[in-house]
Amino acid sequence: MIDIHSHILPELDDGSSSVSESLLMLGEMRRQGIKIVAATPHFEGHRETVNSFLERRAKSFEALSEANTEELPQIRLGAEVLYFEGVSRMEGLKSLCIEGTDLLLLEMPVTKWSSYILSETVNLARSGEFRLVIAHFERCIPAQKRGMLDYLLENDLLIQANASYFLERRTKRRAISLLKKNKIHFLGSDCHNMKERAPRLYAAYNLIGKKLGEHFTDEMRSFAYDMFSAEERQYISQNQ
Ligand SMILES: [Fe+2]
Repeated sequence: MIDIHSHILPELDDGSSSVSESLLMLGEMRRQGIKIVAATPHFEGHRETVNSFLERRAKSFEALSEANTEELPQIRLGAEVLYFEGVSRMEGLKSLCIEGTDLLLLEMPVTKWSSYILSETVNLARSGEFRLVIAHFERCIPAQKRGMLDYLLENDLLIQANASYFLERRTKRRAISLLKKNKIHFLGSDCHNMKERAPRLYAAYNLIGKKLGEHFTDEMRSFAYDMFSAEERQYISQNQ
């Protein structure tokens, strides 16, 4: 399994608060059968430059790598890029894609999007520079006008949902229904810690398998796998 959304790097954002917490999260992911995890710390481009973020991320990753003596899921560095007006003009955006892929995870406002926000996002998705993935779409879609999810899908945006969307009683039916209609491309744990936002990707896949059949979860896994370069795919298939 591949987790494309996590906050496992230590002391970078509101995710893992220490190297030891990161190691516990990674250990839990390994128990769940995750082979590759994208580390996607929050990036706020209206406050920080891409270079400064990349430096902080590299230091955090180095500290974690030095302490990691076990065979844990492999980390691929990325970012969860917070949308701001003008984000499409920011230099270095492409360097925030998840390593080994051309996926850029974008966190959209949870308030109603203006026509500017929508057109900037769609233009970015259609720029051909990378594939734009809306992070935990379930948080931002409720405030939008009806049909927004279909509009995004028609305009080449990819959709990521959190494992919790499938696991919470009040949202799981809707989550399964949208997945069945192929309106969700990726699942991510969006884990932040080992408490209320712990890694729970396996439980979500397990539920989907029960509701929609194993072929469905196999297809989802393959879809995520196909996003990676040939080299990465070889690693994943050798370690399955
Ligand atoms: Fe996140």
